Amino acid sequence: MSQLTFTVNGIKVRGNSREPLLIQLERAGLQPEYQCRNGMCGACRCKLQAGAVDQQDSMAFVAPNEVLSCCSIPKSDLTVEFAYQLQSSLQGLQANEK
Ligand code: FES
Repeated sequence: MSQLTFTVNGIKVRGNSREPLLIQLERAGLQPEYQCRNGMCGACRCKLQAGAVDQQDSMAFVAPNEVLSCCSIPKSDLTVEFAYQLQSSLQGLQANEK
């Protein structure tokens, strides 16, 4: 298993290269928006600012620099940005952590 670090709207969380990004962010306590969870709606899209993902086939439109977090498997450390402030269910997550 490869341990990875994701920087999400300035918040650092740990993850892996086996599961979809959305699931990993939820497990870390973040609450990205989603609807279908299978690449149809586009609600989970985010900007990929650094790193690489293996994005499975999807129907939703994404811009060239965007990925669907519900069907993207991280391949490296990532920096991603959602276009809204993420809700967090965990206390103590540090925004803008460098
Ligand atoms: S939640 Fe619908 S495309 Fe990801």
